[in-house]
Amino acid sequence: MKSPEFVILCELLEGEPGFVSGSALARKLGMSRVGVWMHMEKLRAQGFEFEAVRSRGYRVSRYPAGINPLLVQAYLKPRLHPTDILWLTEVDSTNAEAERQLAAGRAAPFVVLARRQSLGRGRFGRVWHSGDAGNLYASFVFRPHLEPGRMTTFTLWMGANLCDLVANFCRIRPGLKWPNDLYYEGRKLGGMLTEARIDADQIRDLVFGLGLNVNGPPGSLPPALSRQATALAQCTGQPVDLNRLTAAIVGRVLSAYKQFVDGSHRDAFADLWNRYDLLRGKPVALTQGSRRVVGIAAGIDDEGALLIRGENGRPRRFSAGEVTLEKS
Ligand code: BTN
Repeated sequence: MKSPEFVILCELLEGEPGFVSGSALARKLGMSRVGVWMHMEKLRAQGFEFEAVRSRGYRVSRYPAGINPLLVQAYLKPRLHPTDILWLTEVDSTNAEAERQLAAGRAAPFVVLARRQSLGRGRFGRVWHSGDAGNLYASFVFRPHLEPGRMTTFTLWMGANLCDLVANFCRIRPGLKWPNDLYYEGRKLGGMLTEARIDADQIRDLVFGLGLNVNGPPGSLPPALSRQATALAQCTGQPVDLNRLTAAIVGRVLSAYKQFVDGSHRDAFADLWNRYDLLRGKPVALTQGSRRVVGIAAGIDDEGALLIRGENGRPRRFSAGEVTLEKS
């Protein structure tokens, strides 16, 4: 059931840059113009502002700066909505909330979005600093019924899709650091954390978490991190439309997931990864616990393992670990 606010918003977006008359909105909703006005008040309370011109009607004059779930739904391609999106102003971790929702019986697929996280988690048990600074914290939840062995390329495929989307949306050239980081000019833009529950040799639940620095100002991270991190707004030199970007990301993640499950991603995977691979041909060090391996990165294999060419020229494959670029 679409809420009256959602219908009003969709009508106004469709009418842009023109106006939509109050009587057309009232007709569409089957209510009085006073009723329409009351629902517009609810949108105003969410940060929307409207321009009203006598005999022409209304149009949106200001959008909420932070994530607004109605706007994200409205921007999603029609075939994708309604997408089940759970939006929270604050949560410990969207991945943790996704697990709780699954345990409570929520049907997948669904998306959890939050304005800030108090316990955002990253790889290797690290903290993902997640203040209310206009960034994206999202978890995408699926029930894929795939063998665990199929999952080795999942995060890489998602990362390559997201990198491609960000490149086109923001007209910048980001890159991927194997296996789960998005970078721009040597600074981290975002990271992915995929968590799965396996049942009788099948992936039962899959939670794909994405943290993307979008509009967070440089000072919004602890000083040590802010030297290594960046945000899309810094890369492009202007604020990024977080709601449009979020809708585009939701759409891309859902379609990339479908391609992954039906196997149609296979032909595109290597090309897409190679287009954005930041490490290929560069000297790298890979750390696995106390083990450190150095060599020249030589791309990935079909299973998503990182290939590193040692002094003897032969590539060795690594399916886990943390990579850093070495000085050449
Ligand atoms: C990393 O680079 O170590 C991965 C970071 C992943 C962060 C995201 S933010 C949304 C989701 N919820 C979490 O708690 N973590 C992921």
